[in-house]
Amino acid sequence: MDKIKPIFSVKNVVMDFHVGGNGLFGSKKTIRALNDISFDLYPGESLAIVGESGCGKSTLCRIAMRFHQPTEGQMVFNEADVHQLKGNELKNYRQKSQMIFQDPFSSLNPLHNIYYHLKRPLQLYHDYDKNELKSKMDEYLEMVGLVPPEEQGSKHPHQLSGGQKQRAFLARILAVGADVIFADEPTSMLDVSIRLGVLNLMNKLKKEMNKSFVYITHDIATARYFSDRIIVLYAGHMVEWGSVDEVVCHPKHPYTKLLIAAAPDPERTEQLELPVLKSEESEVVGWTPESVGCPFKPRCPVSKDICSTVFPEAKLVGENQHIRCIHQA
Ligand SMILES: Nc1ncnc2c1ncn2[C@@H]1O[C@H](COP(=O)(O)OP(=O)(O)OP(=O)(O)O)[C@@H](O)[C@H]1O
Ligand SMILES: [Mg+2]
Repeated sequence: MDKIKPIFSVKNVVMDFHVGGNGLFGSKKTIRALNDISFDLYPGESLAIVGESGCGKSTLCRIAMRFHQPTEGQMVFNEADVHQLKGNELKNYRQKSQMIFQDPFSSLNPLHNIYYHLKRPLQLYHDYDKNELKSKMDEYLEMVGLVPPEEQGSKHPHQLSGGQKQRAFLARILAVGADVIFADEPTSMLDVSIRLGVLNLMNKLKKEMNKSFVYITHDIATARYFSDRIIVLYAGHMVEWGSVDEVVCHPKHPYTKLLIAAAPDPERTEQLELPVLKSEESEVVGWTPESVGCPFKPRCPVSKDICSTVFPEAKLVGENQHIRCIHQA
């Protein structure tokens, strides 16, 4: 049997931003928002990317959506470099990769009803007659749980709740025909009570329609619920990654331990040693191209002098689990 190929790959991506200074006052500074990010995403898989504010999660999505060109490295779809695509290949990539945003209120046009949002992509990307269009729109509305479709499809966005808007947006993504969905904190603005419904819907799209998700979240508990694999980002670095069960049940990197300790899990039997912050600093440290040592050093409860100078290379610490830490194993 042929090995399953990844549907989307990130290869050694580095993203620098130049900030500050206007030529007259102040000098420009370079922030390295992402450093050496690599992963494969397979069909029908959900890969969670977790980490605190400012660690580079949205930047990764924005590069995938071609809002930014990476400073180094590549993103690959169908064996082609996403940032080199032109013409029909680019049109195909725009169809096959879509993003769902945190704010359901801004992702739909308030002037048009939900049917309109589905009709446009169906007309653009497919060749359906009027009857087929209507039945496709209703099929997608039913698929995302907006029923009865005639009633929900005729509503304008302001007539839907936050959770229903995210469902409508997912129906639009189905109408476009995307296979790879970058979901940037899609449930963080929803009430806790409706979050699970949206996660369950994404799970259904993954299982029944073989959609692949890059699921961005602050919340390691929902990452475990919805994802197969996980990457923990800290200050633009992959500090731990692997199968979600291994990483969440047996975290090896001090930062992952900190994240998990902050999200109690009643199912967890193993007692974790809770790392304590060493310094008052609780913000992510800024990383620049000149920075040396371990990015987590200023907050790490187990760091040693060597961590100030030596950058931690990736090492295998489980069957399918890697960390960047010199000490932990
Ligand atoms: N266009 C830009 N210009 C300059 N700096 C940027 C730009 N976009 C992002 N950054 C910086 O890159 C870093 C990562 O930002 P990003 O928005 O990806 O974080 P995030 O993990 O999505 O955070 P949050 O959880 O708050 O959404 C931050 O330090 C941010 O200030
Ligand atoms: Mg973000």
